[in-house]
Amino acid sequence: MQLEVVILAAGQGTRMRSKQPKVLHPLAGKPMVSHVIHQARQLQAEVIHLVIGHGGEAVRAQVAGEAIRFVEQTEQLGTGHAVQQVLPGLADNSRVLILYGDVPLIQASTLSDLLAPVDEQHLGLLTLNKADPTGYGRILRDAQQQVCGIVEQKDASEAQKAITEVNTGVLAVTAAQLRRWLPALSNDNAQGEYYLTDILAMAYQEGVKIHAVQPQADYEVEGVNDRVQLARLERVWQQVQAEHLMRQGVTLADPARIDIRGELSCEMDVFIDVGCVFEGRVHLASGVRVGAYCVIKDTHLGEGVTLASHCVLEGARLEADNQVGPFARLRPQTCLQPGARVGNFVEIKKSELAAGAKVNHLSYIGDAQVGAQANIGAGTITCNYDGVNKHQTQIGAGAFIGSNSSLVAPVRIGDGATVGAGSTITRSVPDQALAVSRSKQQQIADWPRPTKQPQS
Ligand code: UD1
Ligand code: MG
Repeated sequence: MQLEVVILAAGQGTRMRSKQPKVLHPLAGKPMVSHVIHQARQLQAEVIHLVIGHGGEAVRAQVAGEAIRFVEQTEQLGTGHAVQQVLPGLADNSRVLILYGDVPLIQASTLSDLLAPVDEQHLGLLTLNKADPTGYGRILRDAQQQVCGIVEQKDASEAQKAITEVNTGVLAVTAAQLRRWLPALSNDNAQGEYYLTDILAMAYQEGVKIHAVQPQADYEVEGVNDRVQLARLERVWQQVQAEHLMRQGVTLADPARIDIRGELSCEMDVFIDVGCVFEGRVHLASGVRVGAYCVIKDTHLGEGVTLASHCVLEGARLEADNQVGPFARLRPQTCLQPGARVGNFVEIKKSELAAGAKVNHLSYIGDAQVGAQANIGAGTITCNYDGVNKHQTQIGAGAFIGSNSSLVAPVRIGDGATVGAGSTITRSVPDQALAVSRSKQQQIADWPRPTKQPQS
């Protein structure tokens, strides 16, 4: 049987106190609902139905292009009512997995376990034992310990409230079963809602066996109702990722002080100091050292690269043995060939530094090619923008650019050429030549300094 996934995300999320729909609040840098969609994709679901209501337009806009079937639930009359809205869109021979958009860390491996037994005679229900079950639906079992129903907190007797096995909300059934049971739901209960959970008693009465499966980790079924729970879950997830990295051979100065908001892959013997943030796709090859408080996005750091503290990198590629920072900013399409060095307060954009080139202090290098072993002095600026267009600067191998030079692009500095400190270079400099374009120094001997005028 093919699989269809239904993700419920129509609720308001009042306790977030936000104009943004709850399921769009980010966890690890991406909307909660996108985490759920990602796991559903891993199960090779034929169709993913997303039930939207409050803030539905914003949710649609955010997950556009994800091949999702959106289903509007205009009034939120309960979880059973929400799934009813999807019924017309389900194929007859499907298995249906129901997830919540505000339970972001559910994992595909747990869901596979849940789905394994599901057919017309078997249903899968994800349950959890909780020391404090307050607020959850309680799992009812018969004398043979078979699951026979779910009672919501607000409808439970005192004896039922003492049950510690709770409903996580995740369940797997067949489309045919939903078509039979959902129309029979009533809202005659404490909340006046159509409870999806009432289908469990219907299944039991029909003799459909209910398989209660537990998640591999408790955080997988943790829901988010307010920002406190969201922050807590964020820390849990960061800890999980940190442990995964350490098991792969990464040393973290403090596993509680790292934030991974994307995919960080590391080879062996990487060291990451405290307070670093990784976004998008980042790869750290073996022996990479990342100093404290670096922010790194969509970047590749090759073997032996060292970043000192407080570097900000985006869309950069550092081939090997580069030393960068502290306080360096490498912007998209920066490429450092092996051994090239970048020091403090240097910004580089859309430029390549060939092997062994150095830009060590206070410079802006944009739209430039810097040759091997070239040395760019402190305060060098490539003037790449004329107010309308961007222009290229080429600096030859072994060139030496004196401090505080402005290279007005388009311009080429030849191989082995030298630019005198303080020059403004507007014409290309031939190989091996010296270019100096500063005004001549004047000297006045025995020059008397001004003296203070008496106050009148
Ligand atoms: C539900 C379960 C409860 C379980 C708990 C786990 C029911 C009746 N109860 O209770 O057994 O222990 O989750 O967290 O199912 N939603 C809609 N449309 C609606 C109502 C809800 O899309 O009309 C969505 C919400 O956005 C949310 C999810 O369904 O993502 C759960 O709804 P919520 O109101 O939080 O259900 P609970 O009362 O927590
Ligand atoms: Mg809830």
